[in-house]
Amino acid sequence: NPDRSAILTIFGASGDLAWRKLVPALYRLAQGGWLPENFRVLGLGHTEMSDDAFREHLREGVEQSVDDENFSEEGWEAFARTLRYIAGDFLEDTIYTELAEALDAQEKSWSAKGCRMFYLATPPSMIDVIPAKLHRAGLAQSRRRARIVVEKPFGRDLESARALNKELTELFHEHQIYRIDHYLGKETVQNILAFRFANALFEPIWDRRYIDHVQITVAERVGVGSRGSYYEGAGALRDMIQNHLLQIFSLVAMEPPVSFEAEEVRNRKIDLLRAVRRIKPEEVSDVAVRGQYAKGWLQGEAVGGYRAEQDVAEDSSTETYAAMKLFVDNWRWQGVPFYLRTGKRLPQRASDVSVHFAQVPHNSFPANASAGWEPNRIELHIQPEEGIDLRFQAKRPGLKMRLSPVQMRFSYKDAFKDRSPFAYETLLLDVIKGDATLFMRADQVEEAWAIMAPVLSVWGENPAMDFPNYAAGTWGPEAAEALIARDGRSWLSPS
Ligand code: BG6
Repeated sequence: NPDRSAILTIFGASGDLAWRKLVPALYRLAQGGWLPENFRVLGLGHTEMSDDAFREHLREGVEQSVDDENFSEEGWEAFARTLRYIAGDFLEDTIYTELAEALDAQEKSWSAKGCRMFYLATPPSMIDVIPAKLHRAGLAQSRRRARIVVEKPFGRDLESARALNKELTELFHEHQIYRIDHYLGKETVQNILAFRFANALFEPIWDRRYIDHVQITVAERVGVGSRGSYYEGAGALRDMIQNHLLQIFSLVAMEPPVSFEAEEVRNRKIDLLRAVRRIKPEEVSDVAVRGQYAKGWLQGEAVGGYRAEQDVAEDSSTETYAAMKLFVDNWRWQGVPFYLRTGKRLPQRASDVSVHFAQVPHNSFPANASAGWEPNRIELHIQPEEGIDLRFQAKRPGLKMRLSPVQMRFSYKDAFKDRSPFAYETLLLDVIKGDATLFMRADQVEEAWAIMAPVLSVWGENPAMDFPNYAAGTWGPEAAEALIARDGRSWLSPS
């Protein structure tokens, strides 16, 4: 019974993702009693280590991720017993034979066959190797039991993503493939669906008749850190917009699903992505802006520029900031711009969606009453402050009629006592349960690349001449302000 027995094989288990995200998430799932009765983690990596050394190494990551009150010695001991390690070279066949034997032996000891998940926490190039080797070792064939989990980047453009999907779907059936976008595991991202479709209040006004425009910002304070070698070949458009921002955008703008079945939700998202107006190459400079950080100041500290980061070329043309304007050609959204932006080394870490409503059709108040009047706004705060703000006008106290904008706030931490699961907790449990709703289907990934394609090719062919063009600790290049200012609008500063 795959629901009662499961083995998670992590390729790249001695690496950063397993240490920082996957194993802490599994630990929390174990603590909450969410894991199947029979559960094992098989870590596979290049580094030689014993099972015990592997456990010790992971323990640190878990301790750093969960707070003290959630870490217990007994809890760890029990969980650590589920962890095993096999060292080997992913390019060689031997490790797959060893893996197959280990999986069989484990299931034999349970006298039960369970679900077998293969998680690729490896450098992107391994996706060309591991799935084929798993298939050859006979580990991919059980459609019900075998599942493969892949991380982004899923390709680096439309052609490579198509080729990858083709390869992967020849080896695994689409429903066995879980393409991770960890933003979809975030509570507040899932809450976009609850907000829109579990309330009668907002959906009737969620369209071109009432909404003037939408902004989606994912701002980061961090730079590229030690990920320069990956990031140089990616850039903000590939690293963030193609996946995380387009996923948020899909949830904000999709049509209501009839049910929360994985295929239904994913069909509504793909409908939306297909409706996104394609950008012509000659329009790229009007609708897309790129930036790269120079040295600057963040929280009172001097920080270096992107070109001075480890593994980054001195004349790098990789963007660390990107902003875009998109339109959706359908009945709901005709004419409503969606402004997307993301960047590293911005003043603040903040992911927000703001929905800006149209001005009232007629202002009946005297001119002096309405100074400071703002159109209504709904702000969905994804992180770090999790919640929703509703901005509207109110009469100021006093003997005269004066208006002021005010806000109603829903904050997760005030409204709920329960802690939010880590994104990876939600996603790993979904893989175990076989629920693909929060994962990207092949067609979604390709459609998202198709939207980006003209910008990627124009930028690729024309290296930026003005890089670096924003100082660390500022809100990005001036051209990003101009992108939205041309339409008579401005970016909303995160609160
Ligand atoms: C990753 C990107 O997918 O998301 C990183 O590769 C980025 O560059 C990260 O820093 C942001 O995730 P979060 O959850 O910290 O907002």
